[in-house]
Amino acid sequence: MTYRGAVILGVGASLPRRVVTNDDLAAGLDTSDEWIRSRTGIGARRWVDPGTSTSDLAADAGARALRSAGTSTVDAVIVATTTPDRSCPAVAPDVAARLGLVGVPAHDVAAVCTGFLYGLANAVGLIASGAARTVLLIAAETFSTILDPADRGTAEIFGDGAGAVVVGAGRGGDEPGAIGPCVLGSDGTGADLIQVPAGEAYFRMRGKEVFRQAVERMSDVALDALERSGLGPDDVDHLAPHQANRRICDAVAQRVGIDASRVLSDLDAVGNTAAASIPVLLADAAAAGRLDAGDRVLAVAFGGGLTWGAVTLIWPDAAADLGTLGEG
Ligand code: UT7
Repeated sequence: MTYRGAVILGVGASLPRRVVTNDDLAAGLDTSDEWIRSRTGIGARRWVDPGTSTSDLAADAGARALRSAGTSTVDAVIVATTTPDRSCPAVAPDVAARLGLVGVPAHDVAAVCTGFLYGLANAVGLIASGAARTVLLIAAETFSTILDPADRGTAEIFGDGAGAVVVGAGRGGDEPGAIGPCVLGSDGTGADLIQVPAGEAYFRMRGKEVFRQAVERMSDVALDALERSGLGPDDVDHLAPHQANRRICDAVAQRVGIDASRVLSDLDAVGNTAAASIPVLLADAAAAGRLDAGDRVLAVAFGGGLTWGAVTLIWPDAAADLGTLGEG
């Protein structure tokens, strides 16, 4: 097989049913709807009920992506997550089995909020090497399970959810679904800025420092991905930034040279869903009719590790399947 790039063939996303508003949080935490909205752009988030796991959301999002792609089989499954059901083994084989895919290679990717883009690079690599013709990539998180309810620097930011894409071999060129060069990076000297300290249960983040680095890294890697794709900011129909914070997304758009009308956002409804953030955002925008087949997207993320990444995409000609866990 001659490698001619990779394409997205289908898109799915799954959100837990329970909506947690800013006012719900303010009932138990020294914060307010006004503070959270103005400092982050978040109005509400979805949190799982006890007993619902990352693999539950992942399997639902994966089933939806397969349906969107019009297939029931793939050659490999990748799950990007920060919140696996267990620290060992990986979630992906379990999710694959639930989708009727026993026997296919399945592995997890851990890159926190950059997980989807690292996973996408893995999927493209499996296809380029000839190891797979189709890959199901799922990014799924239940961050609510690692949040300290007393920490107002994290509790209001993160939400649960899962997004997924089916990736297949391309024909080359600017075809629907085409995935551009994946540009990735890391800096482990900042590992302690975003972490669950060893032996502890809760996630900790040094918000101010993360904010500064997120703006710089996301802007730089987004510009890098544009350049490697042979594109300029005016060629992009939509910027799909990791939904870290409205002020971070605005600052990145400004630095990259993309005006606010072209920036996708679902922060208001789902908050920051970490690895799941970009595919949930894209599925939401497509389902709402804001993203059409053939549109050019620049996706960019930053997260714990520290890690960052960006890629350009051409939106596929496939109906995104976005739904609520437990509801068709
Ligand atoms: O997904 C991975 C990447 N993650 C991110 O990119 C997150 C990046 N960081 C952020 O989004 C922001 O830093 C936060 C939203 C976490 C915090 O916003 P900030 O504008 O950096 O606030 P701050 O930490 O500088 O705090 C400003 C003030 C402080 O009060 P004083 O010292 O000025 O009196 C805080 O105590 O706001 C206070 N504060 C709050 N007040 C109400 C901090 N958090 C809250 C809160 N509610 N939740």
